[in-house]
Amino acid sequence: MAQYDVIVIGAGPGGYVAAIRCAQLGLKTACVEGRETLGGTCLNVGCIPSKALLHASHQLHEAEHNFATMGLKGAAPKVDWKQMLAYKDDVIKGNTTGIEFLFKKNKVDWIKGYGSIPAAGKVQVGDTTYDAKNIIIATGSEPSTLPGVEIDDKVVVSSTGALELPKIPKKLVVIGAGVIGLELGSVYKRLGADVTVVEFLDKITPGMDGEIQKNFQRMLKKQGLDFVMGAAVQKVDATKTKATVTYKLRKDDSEHTLDADTVLVATGRRPYTAGLGLEALGVELSPRGQIKTNAHWQTNVPGIYAIGDAIDGPMLAHKAEDEGMAAAEVIAGKHGHVNYDVIPGVIYTAPEVASVGKTEEQLKEEGRAYKVGKFPFMGNARAKAVFQGEGFVKLLADKETDRVLGCHIIGPGAGDLIHEICVAMEFGASAQDVALTCHAHPTFSEAVREAALACGDGAIHA
Ligand code: FAD
Ligand code: NAI
Repeated sequence: MAQYDVIVIGAGPGGYVAAIRCAQLGLKTACVEGRETLGGTCLNVGCIPSKALLHASHQLHEAEHNFATMGLKGAAPKVDWKQMLAYKDDVIKGNTTGIEFLFKKNKVDWIKGYGSIPAAGKVQVGDTTYDAKNIIIATGSEPSTLPGVEIDDKVVVSSTGALELPKIPKKLVVIGAGVIGLELGSVYKRLGADVTVVEFLDKITPGMDGEIQKNFQRMLKKQGLDFVMGAAVQKVDATKTKATVTYKLRKDDSEHTLDADTVLVATGRRPYTAGLGLEALGVELSPRGQIKTNAHWQTNVPGIYAIGDAIDGPMLAHKAEDEGMAAAEVIAGKHGHVNYDVIPGVIYTAPEVASVGKTEEQLKEEGRAYKVGKFPFMGNARAKAVFQGEGFVKLLADKETDRVLGCHIIGPGAGDLIHEICVAMEFGASAQDVALTCHAHPTFSEAVREAALACGDGAIHA
């Protein structure tokens, strides 16, 4: 029976990163994964396949809407859905086999199968029990659904089913205007579906800066997405080919229905810990089913750690990765650290939406004196040249000290631009530090600098 310093359960971005870092720090490491391929939700049925479909459908949009303006004439491309899915699957394969390569390179053993923890220091997979001085639980999350809504992954689908529909729906109803609903809703809208998003709250993407929420919804509406806001879904009745969604408007309790040939349920995800044996072990869970950990990712049972979607915090791949590295460092006797105040969030629609740090609403609630520097992409030459002059950068800084407190971007490349501000925040920079940094012309990044200038004496191009 093999004896390991660390066994990681789950090979998503949390688990595989933790395993690689443990091995790099000289610990004998194995990673248990029940899926056929490594990479977890993110690489197999999450971040990566959704970004492939977002990219492909965005190219179609460009061909249909902007090519002729640039003097690129000819018939617009037709969608070969089977080929688009094959492209997506290829992208997945390239990435999941890449993790296999990294495991071999770093001498991480992949134990294939679903693992459980019969006792602290032991991991069981099939008939074999392995000894492990430390165990890291990185079992991730699964889609959650609503009462009265049964996911069959054919007509009523979760994000997993939505990434491999047999054909492009004519009418898609999306339940939930969060990240999954808007990303995948955008994909199918661009591919020709009628898309209606039904959201319980009065605003899309809960938790984001209010100005971004408003402008983002306006832009999505302009792209043809329909929204039913303030609507509580009661049930979905489905046959083998179509479905009816029944909802009540919260303002007057009136009942309405929507017909669809596909319904995407995107109302959040919940931690996945089934089959691990946590109850028998006495590992404490929160009321929402998250594994409770201390600041060093340790559970209440010595030698058992937990990271990623299975614990508290934003359900994001990069948050899971950072915790994976940090937990490995703690186990190796180093000082692993994650700064939860500087975790960016990105929505990969067109335009992209990105944010980090405090929203204006949070600062108001905290009673903190702040200033706002805003710059529209309309004033950015590069953005206008590529038909992406919509949107803005909004920088929030402390009124007295000028220290950067948050940034919210809707516009081209927002998901990349945000990292300049993440670094600034990590270094405790002021808006003036960003404003005094030379930015290459013509780049989208200039809009970030202009927003920083707007926190001081004023932007130049606004
Ligand atoms: P997971 O990635 O869920 O991995 C857990 C792994 O553990 C799974 O492979 C599972 O099979 C395995 N496992 C579970 N139990 C056991 C067991 N007992 N034994 C062995 N193996 C087990 N996040 C972003 O940051 N950016 C994005 O663009 C993004 N896009 C997304 C798009 C979609 C459609 C979805 C659904 C999610 C997206 N996410 C995105 C979220 C991201 O996928 C998750 O936050 C991330 O995968 C969490 O990583 P994890 O390692 O905690 O868990
Ligand atoms: P979410 O939490 O982002 O959004 C769920 C939405 O559903 C919310 O707007 C909520 O108000 C709404 N809702 C809840 N109950 C409802 C009801 N009964 N009727 C109508 N609406 C209802 O969850 P989502 O989109 O499912 O994503 C899950 C997780 O995956 C998120 O935590 C996200 O972080 C992660 N993810 C991240 C991505 C990224 O970083 N780009 C992409 C996709 C997913």
